Amino acid sequence: MKVTIFGTGYVGLVTGACLAEMGNHVVCVDIDDNKVGRLSRGEIPIFEPGLEPIVRRNHANGQLEFTTDAAQSIAHAQIIFIAVGTPPDEDGSADLQYVLSVARSIGQHLDRYAVIVNKSTVPVGTADRVREAVAAELSARGVEIDFDVASNPEFLKEGDAVEDCLRPDRIVMGSSSARAIALLRKLYAPFNRNHDRTVVMDVRSAELTKYAANAMLATKISFMNEIANIAERVGADVELVRQGIGSDPRIGYHFIYPGAGYGGSCFPKDVQALERTARTVGYDARLLGAVEAVNHDQKIKLFDFIQRYFNGDVRGRTIALWGLAFKPNTDDMREASSRRLIEALWEAGAKVRAFDPEAREETRRLYGERSDLVLCDSAYQTLDGADVLAIVTEWKAFRSPDFARIRAMLREPAIFDGRNLYEPSVVEEAGLAYYGIGRGRSV
Ligand code: UGA
Repeated sequence: MKVTIFGTGYVGLVTGACLAEMGNHVVCVDIDDNKVGRLSRGEIPIFEPGLEPIVRRNHANGQLEFTTDAAQSIAHAQIIFIAVGTPPDEDGSADLQYVLSVARSIGQHLDRYAVIVNKSTVPVGTADRVREAVAAELSARGVEIDFDVASNPEFLKEGDAVEDCLRPDRIVMGSSSARAIALLRKLYAPFNRNHDRTVVMDVRSAELTKYAANAMLATKISFMNEIANIAERVGADVELVRQGIGSDPRIGYHFIYPGAGYGGSCFPKDVQALERTARTVGYDARLLGAVEAVNHDQKIKLFDFIQRYFNGDVRGRTIALWGLAFKPNTDDMREASSRRLIEALWEAGAKVRAFDPEAREETRRLYGERSDLVLCDSAYQTLDGADVLAIVTEWKAFRSPDFARIRAMLREPAIFDGRNLYEPSVVEEAGLAYYGIGRGRSV
């Protein structure tokens, strides 16, 4: 099938590559010249396992094209995806300017029936606004062309995006048009070979499904962080509690890992946006507010621990930091817990020596060269001249370090483990003090 995708960010690029891989002819459009040029040369602007080979292969065989030419791309397709960014505006609502500008552009160039599909995470009611924007442009041109607007949210996880896209656990399609659903079913048929994963619904329910999924996952995390905070105070170990509750299939083991808070481009933004949506329709979503508040405090927890460890004064201290990305297998630093920690440490007069397997470039881009931040080439290099060690991203490479070596290199024998990677007794046997999240002790 012929598909056009607006936006070559995470969602657009991965979706485009995977649809091309399934034999479709995909045109990816972006307003960023430089990005389109790089993609056309096979350079992938993000770190995402498995993405590069499928982009290169499908670009080489002509199934996947990159362009800035909106007009031609619109004429190309039966299905037009909108996968541009929806950053939060000042009050936390999703900013729809990019989505609506694509919609207008579609209205300016559409010349026959197409399904316009929202893939970006957009507030409930956006499909209607897209429909209005397209219709307004068509009527300004004085033409009558039939089109449908559908919602087909994505559920990709960064770091597993290609796998999630090629083997989705569900494909949500929201539209009241049988013609639109038939086209989407045809497009997704190759992803549905063993059993049908399609869930068809009205467009507003599809839009809300996306927010509900992310808000539920964020709630699980904040809930566990709340239990961790109680565990810390009552002398219980949240890691044992986690195993104790996860075995109940109604609760499950997934997404109940306590830690230094959730980050990324989705959970913080989507929880906030859903809360704002609720407010605009006169409902006070108290639970969502609490999920956010717990997460906000959780991100500063390691800093509080470290500061207390140094009796409230970290001036002149050097903190070794393992992990910068908001989670492993990505170089993404958006809303990363590391940033809150680093910035709080700077503010309090401390220096940071950090290592991350993938996110050093991104950190350099964000913070530039500064004397209170040294980006190291290995985890152990961070310990050189450092007082204590803090961990905020659970990269596999950090899972079983040489504690004796850490002990020998640090000036003060203490590890602040923001992802509960280690068994406290193992760390303590090596002569280091251990502070995790909700592990029955606090500084
Ligand atoms: C999230 C969702 O998991 C995807 O299903 C969704 O499609 C995506 O947002 C989106 O809306 O585009 P992602 O942001 O890539 O995906 O990250 P996650 O793997 O969900 O992790 C989010 C954060 O939660 C990370 O900071 C992670 O460290 C934290 N986390 C996760 C915990 O603190 N505890 C857990 O048990 C799980």
